[in-house]
Amino acid sequence: MQRISVIVGAALLAASLSPALSADAEHGKMLYAACAACHQDKPDALGPSLKGIVGRKSAALDDFRYSNPMKRANLVWDEANLKEYIADPQAKVKGNRMPFDGLHDPKDVDDIVEYLKTYK
Ligand code: HEC
Repeated sequence: MQRISVIVGAALLAASLSPALSADAEHGKMLYAACAACHQDKPDALGPSLKGIVGRKSAALDDFRYSNPMKRANLVWDEANLKEYIADPQAKVKGNRMPFDGLHDPKDVDDIVEYLKTYK
């Protein structure tokens, strides 16, 4: 009994630390750490900044040198396009040079997009 209340207490504490994000976005934020290795807000980062990515056109940042396939992709990163790209980047934008082979659990993909919607 005591162990259960410790676990519940820890979960409540974790939830209360981040009241602004839903549980899914919170999980997505943890997963996003893998993306943040490349996607930072600095112009010289390995990947383009993803701040405000939801609803943005593909290859839209002036200070990032996108590959030609990404420049030609001509997508709007709405939720559906983002999910497809995150699940399998090479299938969605063939020849793009993001060195990441995708997230294979659809729930993880959903959660990351939930988080990206809050990342502005
Ligand atoms: C190892 C580095 C790396 C990792 C890890 C990585 N990316 Fe990328 N990402 C890139 C690069 C480089 C590009 C630009 C690709 C191009 O121009 O062909 C890119 C492009 C993108 C774009 C298109 C951006 C735009 O402005 O059009 C999205 C969206 C994106 N990545 C999402 C993600 C997400 C979400 C994750 C984590 C699940 C992730 N990436 C992980 C390097 C990375």
